Amino acid sequence: MMTNKQMAEASKKYLFNNYGERDMALVRGQGARVWDADGNEYIDMLAGIAVCNVGHCHPKVVEAAQRQLTQLIHVSNLFNIEPQIQLAQRLVDNSFADKVFFCNSGAEAVEGALKLARRYGTSQRGSECVEFIAAENSFHGRTFGAISATGQEKYRKGFEPLLPGVRFVPFNEIKAFDDAFSERTCGVILEPIQGEGGVMPACREYLQHVRSRCSETNTVLIFDEIQCGMGRTGRLFAHEHYGIEPDVMTLAKALGGGLPVGALLARDRFADVLGPGTHASTFGGNPVVMAAALAVLELLIEGGLLERCAQLGAYFKDRLSQLAEHSPKVKEVRGAGLMLGVVLDSPAKPVMMALREKGILCATALDTVVRFVPPFVIEKADIDRTVDALGSILKSL
Ligand SMILES: Cc1ncc(COP(=O)(O)O)c(C=O)c1O
Repeated sequence: MMTNKQMAEASKKYLFNNYGERDMALVRGQGARVWDADGNEYIDMLAGIAVCNVGHCHPKVVEAAQRQLTQLIHVSNLFNIEPQIQLAQRLVDNSFADKVFFCNSGAEAVEGALKLARRYGTSQRGSECVEFIAAENSFHGRTFGAISATGQEKYRKGFEPLLPGVRFVPFNEIKAFDDAFSERTCGVILEPIQGEGGVMPACREYLQHVRSRCSETNTVLIFDEIQCGMGRTGRLFAHEHYGIEPDVMTLAKALGGGLPVGALLARDRFADVLGPGTHASTFGGNPVVMAAALAVLELLIEGGLLERCAQLGAYFKDRLSQLAEHSPKVKEVRGAGLMLGVVLDSPAKPVMMALREKGILCATALDTVVRFVPPFVIEKADIDRTVDALGSILKSL
């Protein structure tokens, strides 16, 4: 097997440089632990960027995928696919939605949602009803439609002209939202908790206001729960904390337990606008991915992992908040469940790298937020070790 260094050299030679240089390769994962190519062990507070919510290589997910792999791998959506129907039913039974469309990634789910909203707007309210409202600092993915709705300049630069008609508003500001909203608005897309935008939760009053405005005007409210959904906040979907429901919701990341998947969930009258021939995906709802996703959903709902996420998340946040009281470098601790951000008064990347040196993987968000999104099977002792390590790193800065 290649070493970290050998892989760094080979990856530089053969792969696009879009991810920048990577000096480490992960070769094995189990639960909340991963190992690199040189045999070093890490506590995984990153979970493949909020993907491996049920832990790495959970035996139930592995078994479901393996069983399906030997039975039928792919047939296309020209045919019904049993695990696809089963997963759709389980998602419907556990959400606001009536119907589901499956695709392969988050960005693709967002594309589907934007197309749906356009088609709904123009068919219900006329050809002028084509605009979107999205939030500053949002992140919705890297395809053209998704970057067009992403409120961070760095992702958009050099790719213009983008999809016209997207208005960006400061997150959580009701007046700015009202000012941008018009009869031309066909859809509003928001993350209930912004992930890449610094683990920034929406205010209750703000989301409820947006919900009311969209309901009054027959505007499609899309919640992007690609990062904050699938149990990450201690409830199956983050919007459940707010006492409201969207019309359309995008999912991806943790839905497949690590296998690539995206989904669009909607109430009937919104799903109906994507009738025969309007939208499709060759791989979407692939049998193997669906079988794995079914196992993931079962672990979350019946396996006690949602409750575990809520309990451990509260403990983790508490410990980070205590640390913040004694560390002038920490400006704020925010987030819900096991989606937590520690906002620093300086760049977060050196802290992330120092944690890695101590055997702990995490992510950053924006420039100054250290982000923790571990698998829900993480142990209390791992959380303690992480908070202690963070404390000593912050002290040494
Ligand atoms: C909220 C949100 N939406 C969309 C995406 C894009 O998902 P993908 O990378 O699967 O295309 C992400 C990815 O980080 C995300 O966090």
